[in-house]
Amino acid sequence: MSVWSHRHVLDLAAFSRADFAIVMELAHRFRSMPVTGARKLPALQGRLVATLFFEPSTRTRSSFELAAKRLSADVQSFSPSSSSLNKGESLLDTARTYVAMGADVLVIRHRCTDVPAQLAAELDEAGERTVVLNGGDGQHSHPSQGLLDLYTIANYFHRNHPQPNALQGKRIVIVGDVLHSRVARSNLWALSACGADVVLCGPPSLVPEAFSTFLEAPPPGQDLDPVHQRGKVQISRSLDECLSSADAVMTLRLQKERMTNHLLTDLDRYHRDYGLTHERLLRCSFSGPVLHPGPVNRGVEMSGALLDDRSICLVEDQVRNGIPIRMALLYLMAASEPVAESSRISASS
Ligand code: CP
Repeated sequence: MSVWSHRHVLDLAAFSRADFAIVMELAHRFRSMPVTGARKLPALQGRLVATLFFEPSTRTRSSFELAAKRLSADVQSFSPSSSSLNKGESLLDTARTYVAMGADVLVIRHRCTDVPAQLAAELDEAGERTVVLNGGDGQHSHPSQGLLDLYTIANYFHRNHPQPNALQGKRIVIVGDVLHSRVARSNLWALSACGADVVLCGPPSLVPEAFSTFLEAPPPGQDLDPVHQRGKVQISRSLDECLSSADAVMTLRLQKERMTNHLLTDLDRYHRDYGLTHERLLRCSFSGPVLHPGPVNRGVEMSGALLDDRSICLVEDQVRNGIPIRMALLYLMAASEPVAESSRISASS
């Protein structure tokens, strides 16, 4: 048996398979509970969750806020454009201000890698009880997105009991702008921990060969890998070849705002080589699910028709699953009482 041991959630590289099982199990229970209106769960009553997003977001921020409200927490959101950052206040002092107001959880998104980790270290050093949840930092990590993607794929293969074992031996293709993607990195840690093999597909400018060794060293900041045996990672330049043997495919947004070196000049050609369409899936005899973390560039990463086809494309499921996954994270990090009808949160390791 295994129990939850993470004070902050900064990176899925630190998660064991049992950690993934705990989050998935709890999210599955939250998903099946009626938690709107007067039937909100009381687990985080009296707690304050602050969402500090220094980069734009639609899904992550809104679903963290909904998740917190469904657990009866107070929620305070922060808008950089109308904040005292504009008067020269530092990020750390901004965060300390929310801690002083009694925040139990800070959900932080920032364009720079490791900002959430640095803040967590400062809070630990200061002896604060506030915990930090990474809402996406630079190109490094987006743990809640990796968890909801994992849950959505597992739920596709094992609808009644989405658990890590549902991913064992599966072949998952991630196609597109892997270079700039914190989602791809979090998915690599999550999928491989659950025994899936991951094929990264795209042109060399967006999927450098160096990614083939991404999982080889112990995860950053750790002496040992918490996962005994991970799935493998491979690189491919041919989407058609990948799809012909894949169980699921996730395509990533081209992050034009992070492309400083004109890595892609011809979007029509990119769509021809790496875009997902009904025609391509049919030609490659691919019958699995299609995922995208959003936001989508319609007609670039995938056709509008495929994005709107709910029989194949799980984008809306991903968004929906984001709420129970984030409820599970907030609950595990901030609740003092066990969730109703459970005396303890545990899972088989
Ligand atoms: N997937 C994701 O992080 O979306 P947002 O930027 O809208 O939060």
